[in-house]
Amino acid sequence: MEVVIVDHPEQVMADIIANAVKGGATTIGLATGSSPLATYTELIRRHNEEGLSFKGVNAVLLDEYVGLPTTHPESYARFIRDNFTDHIDIGDVHSPDGMAPDSKAAAQAYDALIGQVGPVDVQILGIGSNGHIGFNEPSSSLTSRTRIKTLTEKTRRDNARFFDDDLDQVPMHVITQGLGTISDARHLALVATGEGKADAVAAAVEGPLSASCPASILQWHPTATIVVDPAAAGKL
Ligand code: GLP
Repeated sequence: MEVVIVDHPEQVMADIIANAVKGGATTIGLATGSSPLATYTELIRRHNEEGLSFKGVNAVLLDEYVGLPTTHPESYARFIRDNFTDHIDIGDVHSPDGMAPDSKAAAQAYDALIGQVGPVDVQILGIGSNGHIGFNEPSSSLTSRTRIKTLTEKTRRDNARFFDDDLDQVPMHVITQGLGTISDARHLALVATGEGKADAVAAAVEGPLSASCPASILQWHPTATIVVDPAAAGKL
């Protein structure tokens, strides 16, 4: 695992994605949340100003809230369109179906789809303040596949800022790629900024490889990069 501490993590992350795409990547894995936003802004800039093309590339999302239609501003399918994929020349963008009548079957179908369009060449990741990746909360099986999860209250409180600070509006359930599914990607690239992530980053990098910190799976992945700013690196 390589840890990069830098003032502008989005530049390093954008380099990783741009190099993968220029090198022939056909599938990239996208994450939502605020952490990768600056990376997406930088990639859109390179697309507009430097001709970086995503032609021939498809994308898969990590996760989705159960019960939010894709038109809802906080659905992850909508979020990624608004903040990234509608602004570049990428191909298909896949995400779990959070509105399927049978969420379990939808999760299994999504895992199978990733198997078909994958392997993911490079997977972007953020990290939750409790060490989750995707929506794999602490105690998630290290070999888990895409499935339904119940969010912890901590994560729902963290994400309430996107729902008018109203905890009741934050869905309880999600469909998320499992830790095993995520680990199938050829390269994992995690970005974290700010001192609020310092404990989670320290646990992921220097703590034991353990389900109590799902992001610690990056320790056993052959090609993992953690890109952090000095504040997020503060407890390393
Ligand atoms: C959500 C997402 C994760 C993301 C995390 C951190 O829980 N499912 O993919 O990494 O939030 O979000 P943020 O980057 O906004 O701190």
